[in-house]
Amino acid sequence: MAGLTISDLLKRKGPVEVIGCHSPLSGKIAESVGFQALWLSSLELSALNGVPDANFLTMSENLDMVRNVCQAVSIPVIADCDSGYGNELNVYRMVQLYEQAGVSGICLEDNVYPKKCSFYETSADEVVTPEEHARRIAAAVQARHNGLFIIARTEAFIRNLGLKEALHRASVYEKAGADAILVHSKKKTDEDLVEFVKAWNGKVPLVCVPTTYNQYSSSELFERGYKIIIFANHGLRASINAMKEAFALIKEKHRTKDLDDQIASLQDVFELTDVDAMQQLIASFNRSHDVR
Ligand code: SPV
Ligand code: MG
Repeated sequence: MAGLTISDLLKRKGPVEVIGCHSPLSGKIAESVGFQALWLSSLELSALNGVPDANFLTMSENLDMVRNVCQAVSIPVIADCDSGYGNELNVYRMVQLYEQAGVSGICLEDNVYPKKCSFYETSADEVVTPEEHARRIAAAVQARHNGLFIIARTEAFIRNLGLKEALHRASVYEKAGADAILVHSKKKTDEDLVEFVKAWNGKVPLVCVPTTYNQYSSSELFERGYKIIIFANHGLRASINAMKEAFALIKEKHRTKDLDDQIASLQDVFELTDVDAMQQLIASFNRSHDVR
C-alpha cells in the first residue's frame, strides 16, 4: 500500500510521471524502475481479459485487480474507473470500495455508461451532460474518507465537441470538487492541449495522456501546463510484442534455448515475486516449530 499520496507527488517540482499497468506484476516492474505512481488502465485490464475496452468487465472484476495491485506495490495507484459504472449512486459505492482496496486516486470520465475506449470510432452522443458528470464527481467527493484524489476527465476533444465545451466541462467538474482535470485528446500533436491551457483559468492541476501525441517528453508537456503525465498502455503493448516474438521463435525452433538472451531469467521471476521473503518465512516457521 502507498505511503505517499498523489498530493505529496504534486508538491514535487516538475511533472508527475504515471505509468499504466494491468496486474501486480506489471505494477511491481514499474515500481522497480522508479515510477512514482501507477495508472490501472481500463484498456490494459480489458486487454488482459481479451475483451474490448467497453465496460465488459464488471466493477467487482476490476476491483479484485485493483486490490491485488495495491497490495503488491508501495507507490500510489490511480484507478481508471471509466464512467463510474452507472449513476452517482454507483459512483458513491464504488469510491467506498476502491478506497478500502487501497487506491490513492481515481479517474472518472464523462462518457456514458457503458463507455467505449476513446480510440474507437466515436460519436458526440457518447458523453453525458456536464451536469450529469458533475453529479458523479460530487458523489465521489462525498463518498471518500481517506483523501482519495479525484481526477475528472473530459472527452470533449475526443468526441469532437470543441474547445468551448471542453473548458465548460472542466470548469463544471472543478466546481463539483475534482482535484484535477484530465484533458483527453487523440490528436497527433499537442494542439488540443495547448489551446485548452491558453483559455483555462481554473486552479486544479491538469492531466494528459500522451498516447497519440507521443513525441513530447513529460517535461515538455509540463512546460505546456500539464502536471500529471500518464503513459497509459505501454507495458501492455510491450508485453504483447515480447510474447509474440518469443512464441514465434519457439514455434520456429521447437526449443527454447534461442530465447535465453531475450527473456527474463527464472531468478528475475523469483525476485519479482518475493520468493526470498517466502523462504525466510518458511525458515522462521521451522525454527519456531523446533522450540518445544
Ligand atoms: C486507459 O488507459 O484505459 C485510458 C486512457 O482510459 S486511454 O486508453 O488513452 O483512453
Ligand atoms: Mg480507460
